[in-house]
Amino acid sequence: MPRALVTGITGQDGSYLAEQLLDRGYEVHGLIRRSASFNTDRIDHLYRDPHEEGVRLFLHHADLSEAGRLVKLIYELQPDEVYHLGAQSHVRVSFDIPEYTADITGMGTIRLLEAIRESGVQTRYYQASSSEMFGTAPPPQSEATPFHPRSPYGCAKVMSFWLAVNYRESYGMFCANGVLFNHESPRRGETFVTRKITRALARVKAGLQEHLYLGNLDACRDWGYAPDYTDAMWRILQADEPEDFVIATGETHSVREFLQLASEHLELDPDEFVRIDERYYRPAEVDVLLGDAAKARAKLGWEPTVTFEELVRVMVDADVKLLDDQLSGRAVRLSE
Ligand code: NAP
Ligand code: GDD
Repeated sequence: MPRALVTGITGQDGSYLAEQLLDRGYEVHGLIRRSASFNTDRIDHLYRDPHEEGVRLFLHHADLSEAGRLVKLIYELQPDEVYHLGAQSHVRVSFDIPEYTADITGMGTIRLLEAIRESGVQTRYYQASSSEMFGTAPPPQSEATPFHPRSPYGCAKVMSFWLAVNYRESYGMFCANGVLFNHESPRRGETFVTRKITRALARVKAGLQEHLYLGNLDACRDWGYAPDYTDAMWRILQADEPEDFVIATGETHSVREFLQLASEHLELDPDEFVRIDERYYRPAEVDVLLGDAAKARAKLGWEPTVTFEELVRVMVDADVKLLDDQLSGRAVRLSE
């Protein structure tokens, strides 16, 4: 049974990847951070008591700031594949906590790569690289496009990208980068713009929220569906040789378009409730991301399966349902 180690398993991508790896017959080990409140919502449906028979998902407390723990886990688990998804992944927040972002999103990668190298474990390593690294580079962006990051997060990801390349070239390790463009889902973190919009729309529709405050509506992103992108991660590690791949839909849309389409789906008019708050502007913006995933199509047979319009509908419908469930859950509890 192949064994995978996933950092960031409690995040959007980690949860879909864990699901897919379990479906593919893997034993999956995930790193989770100690938290005062439960932080495993996205993987609770996968988790089973380790005392039961046939359990294939195991969680281990660790933090990307602590090298010793990473060495111990890599040495003990001897994974066949390591998917390094853990990061402080919010671009706007990285301007507020640049040092922490560099430490976790950048240095965390060195700690993990060194843990693999020092322990001598033969494993395939996936690095969660990002289209944010392209920054101001004109679209379309591909594997040949030079990086020009525009945030502390983007800079930390550039460092991690080159570390993966460097460990591949220096030590012959199987290290591969997936340079993934934005990907979303009903499990997307609530403060990224797509989810912020769909969650707010459900509340506006239900009469629970009056206004939605947003920043730059003109930014354009190449938005795909997260499970397609976690499938790409796995394909990248199954290739004969470690290589770097851009993963994207090849379409770009503005935040305004996302907002408009999502509002129309609920028969709402965004002009009536959307307000601009400059607090959500970034000191430096990435204006247009549009990926060219021709290499992944040709070498990995990877294709996106969900259109932009479908993605918007899926996310809006999921947030409407989630709110309904929460409201009826509250009613049940109140009546008890
Ligand atoms: P996410 O939802 O923000 O998940 C990030 C994960 O990292 C969470 O499990 C989080 O744990 C964990 N983490 C944060 N700080 C940590 C620390 N100090 N030690 C250990 N774990 C820590 O991100 P995502 O959207 O799933 O993205 C996965 C990866 O792909 C990230 O590296 C992201 O930067 C990158 N990426 C994402 C996109 C995208 O559009 N989603 C595109 C390109 C690249 P908690 O749950 O405890 O916070
Ligand atoms: N978050 C947020 N909140 N973004 C807003 C808002 C708002 O209220 N209003 C407008 N935006 C704009 C941002 O300025 C940005 O141009 C765009 O919406 C997308 O913002 P996010 O959804 O926060 O994503 P991101 O593109 O900055 O970063 C995401 O994608 C990267 C890949 O390109 C994250 O998932 C990163 O981790 C990932 O690497």
